[in-house]
Amino acid sequence: MTVNIGNVLIEKTAVLAPMASVADRAYRIMCKKYGASYVTSEMVSAKGICYSDRKTASLCTVTPEERPMAVQLFGSEPDFMAEAVKIVLEYSPDIIDINMGCPVHKVVNTGAGSALMKNIKLASEITESAVKSAGNTPVTVKIRSGWNAESINAVEMAKALESSGASAITVHGRTREQFYTGTADIDIIWQVKNAVKIPVIANGDVNSAESCINMYEKTGCDLVMIGRGSYGNPFVFREIASCLKGENYTPPTVEERMEVMLEHMRLIISMSEKTEELAMHEARKHASWYMNGFYGSAKFRGRCYMLSSYAEAVGLAEEFVRLQRSRRL
Ligand SMILES: Cc1cc2nc3c(=O)[nH]c(=O)nc-3n(C[C@H](O)[C@H](O)[C@H](O)COP(=O)(O)O)c2cc1C
Repeated sequence: MTVNIGNVLIEKTAVLAPMASVADRAYRIMCKKYGASYVTSEMVSAKGICYSDRKTASLCTVTPEERPMAVQLFGSEPDFMAEAVKIVLEYSPDIIDINMGCPVHKVVNTGAGSALMKNIKLASEITESAVKSAGNTPVTVKIRSGWNAESINAVEMAKALESSGASAITVHGRTREQFYTGTADIDIIWQVKNAVKIPVIANGDVNSAESCINMYEKTGCDLVMIGRGSYGNPFVFREIASCLKGENYTPPTVEERMEVMLEHMRLIISMSEKTEELAMHEARKHASWYMNGFYGSAKFRGRCYMLSSYAEAVGLAEEFVRLQRSRRL
């Protein structure tokens, strides 16, 4: 089954959430390879792009392996958003997504991200100006349930954004005040789905086929988005794709996990403009996530944070596999 976002066809399995400093190109390619049907870039400042920040240009590039892919922008000024969209279109993203859910102070203080949940009029103006600028490229918006528990307004927000021309809405079922704590509110996603005609992407706490199917069933959403549940676990997308097709799913062995971890390390190193040692600094957290949940993993995860070469990662992975095998005897 597929879902249309504007003119873009996306397989109805699970999609990768935008995650700044985590879901970079290497991460997105890994998730795509293991079954994510759609990915979004890390958020990019609309104003930063307009002032031709070099780093933002590299964030906007879309490689063939990542498609279909959205580039996500954040900003609080409709004019800058319109200009940024024009610049981003040069990178031919399949979709442009606008971030209206980011809770961090640095973003909220500029009136962007989840601050827009408190200003539906401005959120609509930003969306309208992005849509106008984007031409045939669909514009989607990612929102939260509201600013805080006293102001849950995702339904009103989603309806306004639909009227402003958004082609889909992603709802993370938490308020800004919750940041990433507590559990995501599934009911608010169901309410949004029932209030708009455009596709709704449900997000929050999905980390397995079971929780993904639950999200589809309880909300009637069009797509499910996974963020933290994919940490060191691109396999979650494969699990979901096979379960939805009714196929038997065999979880990865520890050997496969370590092979994929090393594949991810190689990708990070090959895509980095930095030295292997500096690239490994960025790769450390990913390496540690692949070892999560196994016997002795706390100690190994600590050792991941000392890795400074690929050869060391290979040695650590071999040691980890030996330890897990010794437990099987
Ligand atoms: C490290 C990190 C970075 C994030 N960066 C972004 C971002 O750039 N843009 C965005 O819209 N959401 C961002 N988010 C929010 C996620 O996309 C997602 O909405 C949230 O993690 C809830 O989903 P989950 O429970 O599946 O993780 C980020 C979340 C995390 C944990």
